[in-house]
Amino acid sequence: MPRDLLWINGETMPAEGALLPLEDRATVFGEGIYEVAIFYDGQPFMLREHLERWEQSAAGIELVSPGTLEEREARICALVEQSGHLDALVYGQLSRGHARRNHLFPDPLAVAPTEFWIVRKAPVHKPECYRTGVRLVSQPDERWAHCHYKTISLLPNCLAKERAHRAGGYEALLYREDGTVTECSSSNAYCVRGGVVWTHPATNRILEGVTRQAIMAAAASLGIPVREQAVTLEEFKQADEAFISSTTMEVMPVTAVDEAHIGAAKPGPVTLRLREAVRARVMRECGIPQAETA
Ligand code: PDD
Repeated sequence: MPRDLLWINGETMPAEGALLPLEDRATVFGEGIYEVAIFYDGQPFMLREHLERWEQSAAGIELVSPGTLEEREARICALVEQSGHLDALVYGQLSRGHARRNHLFPDPLAVAPTEFWIVRKAPVHKPECYRTGVRLVSQPDERWAHCHYKTISLLPNCLAKERAHRAGGYEALLYREDGTVTECSSSNAYCVRGGVVWTHPATNRILEGVTRQAIMAAAASLGIPVREQAVTLEEFKQADEAFISSTTMEVMPVTAVDEAHIGAAKPGPVTLRLREAVRARVMRECGIPQAETA
């Protein structure tokens, strides 16, 4: 019987009911970094890329990530195996640790960082969303200037997603004051215009998704041109196709933004080719036989 497990600073325990000290800097300052990675059939998908981003995020907020990438990778794989979950979602978080509240950083020699990893069953997105495509609801991008680090202070993301959901949207499509689209509250955003995929460049204004990397590689091998350039919300709405991506969704077609239909209001051909290519890579790298996901 699979069970949800937690690894925290060297100890493994059931995830249910586990507690963090009240004055961990993650709870009082929302200070820390995180990662979300996925396993299929017991095998990780692009875990290395997630762990490389973990190290970049940690360095970006002057947080020392204990141990090596290889140790972390081995520990996560062992935890997933121990949990018994074959299709598993792994959430990891690192903070500067538990210290009396003070904006200044605690002495790293006296206070150890808090690192934990939780393994649960991977979520399954509704098949009809992939068949019909989803609707995005636009929201102002009110985040800070370092969105390329995967930091845990997600209040603007949560507010945007909640408001988009209340307006009947699947995700919030974020736009900046100058009208340009950045990404979504927890996924990257793309539109297709004249056969070219347009997506915001991987600057400090977006999180460079691991799935985005897989999409870029798939587009290159399929000969689909990609332009890393921001478009305005109006241009996005007038695109031929659109899609969003994240670790759990992979490539999700978008068929409406606010009240506007995108293209023919059904998943477009470029979107479907990219979705299939990323799916095929997942199956190949996780050793899933084709028939299993048909
Ligand atoms: N979100 N952009 C943002 C703001 C995100 O939070 C995420 C991931 C992505 C997609 O990244 P990736 O392809 O590496 O999953 C883009 C995760 C899943 C989350 O916060 O739960």
